[in-house]
Amino acid sequence: MKNIKELDKQYIAGTYGRFDIQLDCVKDGMLCGEDKQYIDFGTGIGVTAFGACDGEWVTAVINQTKTLSHTSNLYYTAPCAKLAQMLCERTGMKKVFFGNSGAEANECAIKCARKYSYDKYGEGRKTIITLVNSFHGRTLLTLSATGQDVFHQYFGPFVDGFKHVPANDLDALREALTDDVCGFMFECVQGEGGVIALDGEYLRAAEKLCREKDILLICDEVQTGNGRTGSLYSYEQFGITPDIVSTAKGLGGGLPIGACLMGEAVENTLTPSSHGSTFGGNPIACAGAVSIISRLDENYLCDIRSRAKYLWDKLSALSFVESVSGLGFMIGLVLKDGLETKAFINACAERGLLVLSAKTKVRLLPPLNTSIETMDKAISIMTEAAQSLISKSNG
Ligand SMILES: Cc1ncc(COP(=O)(O)O)c(C=O)c1O
Repeated sequence: MKNIKELDKQYIAGTYGRFDIQLDCVKDGMLCGEDKQYIDFGTGIGVTAFGACDGEWVTAVINQTKTLSHTSNLYYTAPCAKLAQMLCERTGMKKVFFGNSGAEANECAIKCARKYSYDKYGEGRKTIITLVNSFHGRTLLTLSATGQDVFHQYFGPFVDGFKHVPANDLDALREALTDDVCGFMFECVQGEGGVIALDGEYLRAAEKLCREKDILLICDEVQTGNGRTGSLYSYEQFGITPDIVSTAKGLGGGLPIGACLMGEAVENTLTPSSHGSTFGGNPIACAGAVSIISRLDENYLCDIRSRAKYLWDKLSALSFVESVSGLGFMIGLVLKDGLETKAFINACAERGLLVLSAKTKVRLLPPLNTSIETMDKAISIMTEAAQSLISKSNG
C-alpha cells in the first residue's frame, strides 16, 4: 500500500502546499508523527485553543457524542442554546447564528448587514467597506470582501458591493461612507495580512463616523477571538462596540464551528428561512465550544496576557528578530540578518517546533495554556534554527 504522503498527493486536491511532515497523534501536549515530536505554535491555524486534544474539550466532545450527536435546526438542543447564552452574556450581544467556519460566519454577518439596511431603507444600500490587506474567507462572497487583489483572480465574477479602503486612514474611510454603504467590516488585528493591529484611535473614530450614518460595525474575530489576543474578543481592547461579530477557529477547539453574534440593532433582522445551515449548531461542536468559552473567564484571560507578555519580551530580545507585532498570543515576527521566513520555519520544524507564516512574517499562534517552560523551549529552538541558518549562509 502507498504511504500516507503518496496517497494524499494522488487523491487530495492540490490546494495546499504541505510541509513534508505527517502528524498522527498527540502525546503529552506534543504533536507526534514519523518518530518526531513537535511543540505546536500553530494550533491548526488558531483552532486548538488549549492545545490539540486538550482533556476538557475531549471529555465534553465524547460525552456529547454519546448523548446526542446531531439532529437538525428543526429542534431545540442544549449545547447550542447554552453556547449562545454564554456568548451573549459575555459580550452583550443579543442573538447568535451558528455555522461551520469563519467564512460562513462572515457570510452571515454580511447578509445580516444587508438585510438590516434593506428592511429599514429599502434597495440601494448594499455596499460593505472593508480594509486593504484584510482577509475574510474563501467563499466567493468573502473573497469579494477580502481586500487583497491576489485573491481576486480566476473565480470571477465576484460579488459586487464591496469597497476596500486603506487601514488607519480616516479620510479615506470618510470619503468611502457614501449613501450606498450599510456596513464597515474589519479585523482588529489583520491575521493573514501579516499580524498587524489596527490603530485604536482610528477604530474609535471610525465607529463614530459609522454611528452618524447608521452604518453597521462588523468585527471579524475569526482569528482574533476566543482569548487569542488576551481578551475574549479583541475589539474589547480597542474600546469599540460592534453591531455584528463573526468568530470561528478557536471557538471550536478542534471541531468546525462558526458563529455570527448580532447586537441590539440587528437582533431581529434574520427571520425564519432567511438563513440556515444543516450542520450549524451541531451539538458535538457546540459542547466542545462550551468547554472552551467556559475556561476563558477574566482570571484566565489575565493569565494569558501575562504569559503572552513573557513571550513578547523574550522574542523582542532575540538578536535575529527585527520586530514583533500583533496582540497577546497572536504574534508576527520580522526576521533580520538576511534570514528567510520559509527557511526559518523549516529549520524550526526540523528541531521540533511548528510555527506558521503570514505574508513575509513568521506567525506564532501558541495554545492559550502554553507554559513558561514550553515558551523557553520554543525560544531556544528558534535561536538554534536562526544560528544554523546564519552559520550556513556565512559558509
Ligand atoms: C480573519 C479571518 N476571517 C475569516 C477566515 C476564514 O475562516 P475559515 O477558514 O474558517 O472559513 C479566516 C481564516 O484564516 C480569518 O483569519
